[in-house]
Amino acid sequence: MSLNNKVALVTGAGQGIGRAIALRLAEDGADIAIVDLNTEKMMAVSREIEGLGRKATTFKADVSDQKQVYGAIEHTEKTLGGFDIMVNNAGIAQVQAIADITQEEMDTIQKINVNGTLWGIQAAAKKFIERKQKGKIINASSIAGHNGFALLGAYSATKFAVRALTQAAAQEYASAGITVNAYCPGVVGTDMWVEIDKRFSEITGAPEGETYKKYVQGIALGRAQTPVDVANFVSYLASSDSDYMTGQAPLIDGGMVYR
Ligand SMILES: NC(=O)c1ccc[n+]([C@@H]2O[C@H](COP(=O)([O-])OP(=O)(O)OC[C@H]3O[C@@H](n4cnc5c(N)ncnc54)[C@H](O)[C@@H]3O)[C@@H](O)[C@H]2O)c1
Repeated sequence: MSLNNKVALVTGAGQGIGRAIALRLAEDGADIAIVDLNTEKMMAVSREIEGLGRKATTFKADVSDQKQVYGAIEHTEKTLGGFDIMVNNAGIAQVQAIADITQEEMDTIQKINVNGTLWGIQAAAKKFIERKQKGKIINASSIAGHNGFALLGAYSATKFAVRALTQAAAQEYASAGITVNAYCPGVVGTDMWVEIDKRFSEITGAPEGETYKKYVQGIALGRAQTPVDVANFVSYLASSDSDYMTGQAPLIDGGMVYR
């Protein structure tokens, strides 16, 4: 139980990768603040965490709104009596040809994936410093944060930006004892990929399921990634085992993109 007496906040924890991270950090011994837009899903994850014998709290917030992110951290500290780990996991995908991306589409994905991560880093670091304690900040990037993928141009741009913020923040906050790292999953079987596959079908005419299958066939380990595969790595990033690591964004993708 490497995270005993620690408090972790996970954004986008109502489902998918965020839910798996929340459950894994609870198994590791942490109490968990679940932050998402979907109250019903948050409540379900909260019950799962309590079933593991840990405390949980929920807070509805849109990560693209700076004030709401600060509010989520205040709520976490007040309700769970501490604050040690921030997982900026919430994000959205977008499948669109470069030629067709609208200003509104670009603004939306930028606000959630980039600004949301920035507010999360900023607010968490301020709170750690105010509490005069060390802290861990962990951000969701992607294979698309290392390679630009066709029809995922805007999404890829936001995930490259998450790596940039991770590197800059790691340097700015190192002297305060705060580490900042990211995780870069590959093709994880969540609702996000159901949507990505559907949009590829609309644009390319590929039968539904075909794009997902094609991507999975390109994975060296021969299977799609599960949210638990990602959570296992985030558990390491949240633990003291990763104390000497900062500013990094390792690929955890079953062998798709090699750096
Ligand atoms: N699924 C993949 O293959 C994959 C691969 C690489 C990286 N990622 C990244 O991992 C993260 C999680 O992905 P997922 O597959 O679990 O996605 P998902 O769509 O299954 O779940 C995302 C969760 O985030 C919440 N959310 C969305 N916008 C929000 C906002 N503005 N404020 C608060 N909550 C919000 C949603 O309600 C949902 O519960 C994302 O950042 C994604 O880009 C996913």
